[in-house]
Amino acid sequence: MRDLIVAGNWKMNGSQQFVDEMLSALNQVDFSESIKAVVFPPSVYLYEAIQQAKTVKVGAQNFFHEKSGAYTGELSASMLSDVGCEYVILGHSERRAIFCEDDNLVAKKVVATLGSRLTPILCVGETLEDREGGGYSDVIATQVKAGLSLLSADQISNVVIAYEPVWAIGTGKTASPLQAQEVHKLIRDLVTELAGKEVSVNMSVLYGGSVNAANAQELFSQPDIDGGLVGGASLKVDEFLAICSAAAEVLKR
Ligand code: 13P
Repeated sequence: MRDLIVAGNWKMNGSQQFVDEMLSALNQVDFSESIKAVVFPPSVYLYEAIQQAKTVKVGAQNFFHEKSGAYTGELSASMLSDVGCEYVILGHSERRAIFCEDDNLVAKKVVATLGSRLTPILCVGETLEDREGGGYSDVIATQVKAGLSLLSADQISNVVIAYEPVWAIGTGKTASPLQAQEVHKLIRDLVTELAGKEVSVNMSVLYGGSVNAANAQELFSQPDIDGGLVGGASLKVDEFLAICSAAAEVLKR
């Protein structure tokens, strides 16, 4: 049985005060028999968020794949594990587009989580041009295969994949549940090809791109959508709690 995950990617937003507000609100919710909720604050707030988190997990938005050394400004997987992070987002489209991370680098980062306590959330997604040109399936297949290329079938079972169409990120334009489901099914089929059925049926595949309290339940009800990677709406305490509740409702069915 795969996990239903609601992950809040704060990106370069938030403050110490917001950490306190969000964590104290989430600490009131009992997630023990329900979904997994994860928050991804900027790295300077990770330690504090981990100290406060009672009901949710905490993850990092990025790391560098080398173990240690002269990499000014970077953090390693073992450092994140050390302070208690349990997830890391890798290959986000903002890292690909703004920080020039390519599929090879993303694959190195994914493999570098092995041996740490981090679960990688590998992000894939097509641009508007890819979608309108009809080549989006190939783009997704290339990114999924490349991102998992350095892992054995068994190691792939540790990964979570997030489908985040670039045209839906921060735009208020959500993929329709059917558009998202189509790509999620494609991703699961690819994972079956790469790692076998048992791994693919147990893998959580999240949707990201303008998820909010109003559309979460319908999206998460699709057979191959196992929760969401939420950006803007994870910066509003009530909205994020409402998305978590919507996900919990889906689980009850
Ligand atoms: P929005 O929810 O703001 O569209 O961002 C999605 C995202 O990039 C999450 O990683």
